[in-house]
This record gives sequence, structure tokens and C-alpha cells, in this order.
Amino acid sequence: MASEPVNVNEFRELARQVLPKMYYDFYTGGAEDQHTLKQNVDAFRRIMLRPRVLVDVSRTDMSTTVLGYKISAPIMIAPTARHQLAHPEGEVATARAAAACNTIMVLSHMSTCTVEDVASSCNAVRFFPLYVYKRRDISAQVVQRAEKNGYKAIVLTVDAPRLGRREADIKNRMVTPQLKNFEGILSIDVNSDEGSIVEAFVKETFDVSLCWEDIERLKSITNLPILIKGVLTHEVARKAVEVGVAGIVVSNQGGRQLDYTPTTISVLEEVVDAVGGKVPVLLDGGVRRGTDVFKALALGAQAILVGRPVIYGLAANGEHGVRRVIEMLKDEFELTMALCGCPGVMDITRSHVRTECDKLH
Ligand code: FNR
Repeated sequence: MASEPVNVNEFRELARQVLPKMYYDFYTGGAEDQHTLKQNVDAFRRIMLRPRVLVDVSRTDMSTTVLGYKISAPIMIAPTARHQLAHPEGEVATARAAAACNTIMVLSHMSTCTVEDVASSCNAVRFFPLYVYKRRDISAQVVQRAEKNGYKAIVLTVDAPRLGRREADIKNRMVTPQLKNFEGILSIDVNSDEGSIVEAFVKETFDVSLCWEDIERLKSITNLPILIKGVLTHEVARKAVEVGVAGIVVSNQGGRQLDYTPTTISVLEEVVDAVGGKVPVLLDGGVRRGTDVFKALALGAQAILVGRPVIYGLAANGEHGVRRVIEMLKDEFELTMALCGCPGVMDITRSHVRTECDKLH
């Protein structure tokens, strides 16, 4: 690309130019027909904005809090695996960018830098994501390491008892480096004559028996607040509140798990209504513009997280690239707030958007 990217989508093209095809496919791809993957983005486009005018927007304030942590804007970094495949500095570069942008990073359990290296590289507020392994002692150990290293919350991914079928990874026979957090504990040396090593690894190691009772067990081994990530229905949201989670992430893993699940923005309100303000609701999946951030907040999200855009920035230009991606989203969000007549995030209301359902009524 001849000129500097002017929006997040243009970073994707830069990433495509620098990444080996196998890795680019791994980062961009989704499950099966990739219907949910595409719809996640398109669903935002079907929501229209309803601006107010003649409001004094000479000062705008994007800042908000998540679990009591103040961040500069409601834009956080979602957990995405294996950052060193995108850039040699991997998650350390991403974490530094999070600190520079004053936002929260959720590290991936499948990170290529250790929990400790990421913690010592910067003072960003970090949440720790969790998958539960058949060997429960390993999950308990990483939770303790996260606590010891100042991570502020556990984000339990609940939509991946098995890995979604990512056909590009199968075709490419996707390989993966040893996961640094588990060196000497868990080997990725699994057999994969037929396809993705990532898929074979998950099949071999993840605990498919994980269930609601395990949240209670998890609470007994950590004092950190627990969020669950991968909620798409009001039934699950209600149950999550009942068992005492500290927050909910509406997510379909960016369309990488179960294809033909609804888009996250289309189910956000259902979840928010079910939760009734008892815990914060976050959202990820398909956020590519500041207007998307605004729409999610109007429909009740406390903040959003971005996954792939961060990787595109990282691949294109390391820490600086991630910073640019977050800054672009912040700039666009701030402009949207001003043009919608909302000086602060608390001024953004349901009536600032019109969804397809609204049109029907
Ligand atoms: C992910 N995601 C993910 N989620 C999770 O809970 N644990 C993980 O290890 C990963 N790994 C991962 C790798 C890659 C390459 C991608 C693209 C995604 C899902 C991620 O947290 C988030 O839900 C989506 O990425 C959000 O969608 P967008 O922003 O990518 O559209």
C-alpha cells in the first residue's frame, strides 16, 4: 500500500502483504461457510444512527470504567492467539500498545509470550483468559501465575469445548509454535496427519466436560473476578448472573467457533435486558469503525473488544501498528459522539440508533 492506512480495514491489506498465507488465513478465517464471520461485520452496517443536533460538543469525553478500571475509551483488546506469528515481539508489543492507549488487554491463553513477560513489559491493565484443560492442575497453575503477576480478572472462554472447523487451517495444515505458558507442561507435539495442528492440540487437551458447576470451583481457587466470554442468549446470560460472574462478554469468537450463530450486535440487547444492569456486558465481533463502538454502547455494552484489527496492526508495524489501530478507532468514535450530540459516553442512549427490529414496529 503506497500511503499510510486511514482506517482499520486498510491495515488488513497491509497484514495480507506481510504475512505468510498460512498465518494470514489463520488470523482472518472463520468456521465452515464463514457466514457468522461475515455477518458480524455486516450487521453493524444495518444499524443507523439517530443524531441529536445543537448540543455543545466543544468537549467530549470517551473515558469509561470496566470493573472499576478507568480506560481512555470503551475499546479494549480481545484475546487472540499466537501474536509472534504476526510480529517477533508478539504479545509484549500488543501489551505496550494497550498501555500507551490506556486501555485493557485480555491476553490469550494461547499466547506466544509468557504471562510473566507480558506483565513485566508494561503497566497496562491486563485480564487473563482461561480455557480449562483435561489436566485441571494446569489450569489452576496458570490462574495462580496470573494472580501473582497482577492480572485483574479471569475471562473464561465458554464457547470452545471443541474447536470450530476452520477449513483454511485444515487445508494449510496449520502449524503452531510451542505455547510459551505451557513449556515443559503441555506439548503441542500432537499427531495431525490430516490437517490443523491447532485443532488436534485442542482435541487432545481441552476439557469438554466443563460445566456450570466449574464456575464455583474456579471461584474457590481465585479471588479475581470472573467474566465469561461466549454468551449469545438471554438464557445463558441469566444463568451466568445467577452463578455470580462479574461480567459477560457477548461473543461468537469472531465467527471462528460455531457457524450460523447470530451476530453479536444483534443479540446484545437481549443479553443486556436479561442481565438487568447487575454486571457489565461487553461485546466483541465485527467492530471495525468508531460508529460500531457507538452502536454497541447505544445497545447497552459497557465497552467493546477488538480482535483481528489488533493483529492487522501488529503484523503491519508491531507496537506502533496496534497503537494506530486503537487510535483510529478512538478518533472515529470521538467524532461519532460529537456528530451525534453526545459529549460523554453516558449521553449515548438507545434512541441514538435505529435497528432493523425498530423499523418493523
Ligand atoms: C481469537 N479469539 C480467541 N478467543 C479466546 O477466548 N481465546 C483465544 O485464544 C482466541 N484466539 C483467537 C485467535 C484469533 C486469530 C482470532 C481472530 C480470534 C476470539 C477473539 O477473542 C474475539 O472473540 C474475536 O476476535 C472478535 O472478533 P473480531 O474483532 O476479530 O471480529
